Amino acid sequence: MPFKGMQTLANRIEKLIGAMTVAEKVGQLTMTASGYTVTGPTIAGDSTEAIRAGAIGNLLNMVGAAHCHEMQRLAVEGSRLGIPLLIGLDIIHGHRTQFPVPLAETASFDPGAWALTAREAAIEAAADGLALTFAPMLDISRDPRWGRGVEGAGEDPWLATRLAEAKVRGFQGSDLTAADSLAACAKHFCAYGPVTAGREYAPVDISERTVHEVHLPPFAAAIKAGVATFMPSFTDLAGIPMTMHTGLLRGWLREKHGFDGVIISDYNAIGELIKHGVAADHIEAATLALKAGVDIDMMSDAYRHGLPIALERGWVTLEAIDAAVRRVLTLKGRLGLFDDPYRRGSKADTPEAEARRRRIARDVAQRSIVLLKNERETLPLKAVRTLALIGPLADAAREMAGPWGAAQDATSHVGMLAGMRRAFGKADILHEAGVDIRGDDTAGIAAAVDLCERADTIVLCVGEAANMSGEAASRAQLDLPGRQQALAEAVLARAQGLGKRVTVVLFSGRPLVLPWLFEQADAVVAAWFLGSEAGNAIADVLSGAVSPGGRTPISWPRAVGQIPVFFGERPGGRPFNAEDHYTSKYLDIPNDPLFPFGHGLTYGRFTYSSLRVTPERVAESDTLTVRVDVKNTGNRRAEETVFLFTRDLVATVTRPLLELKGFGKITLDPGASGTVTLQLPAQELKFLGLELQPVFEAGEVEILVGPCADRKQLLVTGVHLVA
Ligand code: NOJ
Repeated sequence: MPFKGMQTLANRIEKLIGAMTVAEKVGQLTMTASGYTVTGPTIAGDSTEAIRAGAIGNLLNMVGAAHCHEMQRLAVEGSRLGIPLLIGLDIIHGHRTQFPVPLAETASFDPGAWALTAREAAIEAAADGLALTFAPMLDISRDPRWGRGVEGAGEDPWLATRLAEAKVRGFQGSDLTAADSLAACAKHFCAYGPVTAGREYAPVDISERTVHEVHLPPFAAAIKAGVATFMPSFTDLAGIPMTMHTGLLRGWLREKHGFDGVIISDYNAIGELIKHGVAADHIEAATLALKAGVDIDMMSDAYRHGLPIALERGWVTLEAIDAAVRRVLTLKGRLGLFDDPYRRGSKADTPEAEARRRRIARDVAQRSIVLLKNERETLPLKAVRTLALIGPLADAAREMAGPWGAAQDATSHVGMLAGMRRAFGKADILHEAGVDIRGDDTAGIAAAVDLCERADTIVLCVGEAANMSGEAASRAQLDLPGRQQALAEAVLARAQGLGKRVTVVLFSGRPLVLPWLFEQADAVVAAWFLGSEAGNAIADVLSGAVSPGGRTPISWPRAVGQIPVFFGERPGGRPFNAEDHYTSKYLDIPNDPLFPFGHGLTYGRFTYSSLRVTPERVAESDTLTVRVDVKNTGNRRAEETVFLFTRDLVATVTRPLLELKGFGKITLDPGASGTVTLQLPAQELKFLGLELQPVFEAGEVEILVGPCADRKQLLVTGVHLVA
């Protein structure tokens, strides 16, 4: 090893940089997709010789410890300087074991669970030889047409900051050098969510205030949590592609927030600066990206081919290249790769660890389920003798994990049919898909509908396919794909005719706009994509073994035309007033969403009383203590999630109608009461003033507490801020 005897990582790195050719330096700034075929390792558009030559320093998409080690050996033993590879993969919601998709998991409102699934995914992925994940995704998503909302925390920035902290902590662990830790990546920086009309990869044009108030806070939280890497988004922001956004990458991220980790471009994004129309060729593209602070070129080869020429022409400096190389090598050092490049993947995963992960997957999936509707206590299902499980997602184990999962074994996922068979072992379970998820064939509907005659319990499993959300999965109509609506309508009509109730289990990576279904079904469960244990977790909830407790982290619109609909809107000068025609409203539908942020029923029933706050006069250094009494007036034990919102009534700039500032949980037996206490540092009541600087302004602030972001359901009191 060329590093033997060197005292510190910094010394090692400087020595290396001193010894590197320009081509080797640029190799460290290059990340290439890799794979494995029967004949051996493959590299996109290249040969493994490029690793030996030091022309590729980083890989993505490799799976399996033996394969990762084989590649690593090429670099460490085969290349001149023996610099280890950084090998990354999209470990978004689990590696081999799949946990609920992030949007679903956010619904659990349990930061401990968010961190735990990231930790477990890291342990499993590191055991597979990986050192980097391209997660967490911290983009705020207020437009469910955009498919990537499934990868993030939903519509609210405060919530996304909590997710950012938990995920970074989980993936990276307490020591990045540990053999079971992964470098995390805060992506996609920033404001990818508001793509024009919800259309993937489309331009973004939003105000600077919204960028700073809504889209940047989760990234600031990730930096504070010590995230190792960042990824700029594919999109442009008001005309400046993020991959070359010097103001945000160098200015905000590096200078203002002191981020000294590695910035990795998105897939081919440097090359796409040409398509954006800001660079004529790869040389210009590479120059723009490097100048903005992007260290690693993922897949466009613009750095490899363009940077040496840019250097010759004097467009970039050797110092700038060295600085990027230094950051990449420092990350490799922080990951312990110089000391032992094979530490990840050297210890095989154990069956006990696998069993533990399945237990966690089931537990978190149970808590991610959102019970949207439950008329006449249709759920939990009772006295089930003959159960009709109808729909294309009833026996669809492969769909359960959702859009990501390069390393998953989809055959190990538990679908609904298997889960229900286990939970309702004594019942006769009848199953018909009726239709496919997509496609026009309606021939199976009649047989599916006929099951309603024979069954006492009807469960309809409909929704999207796993790959209908995620990257490149925007939808203009948020309905049931294929002929599922025809199936659902026929089942609902027959069941109604027979006087039988229908429970709908809805699978999706986003809110769907199905007012007719929500109206007619007796119970509706949002099952998102819950991962490897989906079927078991859903059956646990339907059978009543556990009470659902998930709350939607994103508003469910009544109509696509309402989008974006979110609770943090500002009031406007003519806020909604039913009595006044000339106020902000639609002629044809209400303003509010069908299911507000935070909505989610349980098998208990909760009432709130006695909201109180101390102190009532609040200085900037104070911490508010907010208390509310909660009673379970239902007849089953359940956990309630309690939300804390604020509203700044008069400020120098208009403030949102509601701002989320906290949440708490309480579990109560039937008839029992308890008090939920939430702490709110007054600092969090600051907002960005006229100059986008944080200000703490004197005046009245409403404190609102309750079960969701529907103002009508919130208790309100107030405090007075003194500056
Ligand atoms: C493109 C996606 O936008 C990004 O999220 C992902 O990490 C990369 N591809 C690598 O797969």
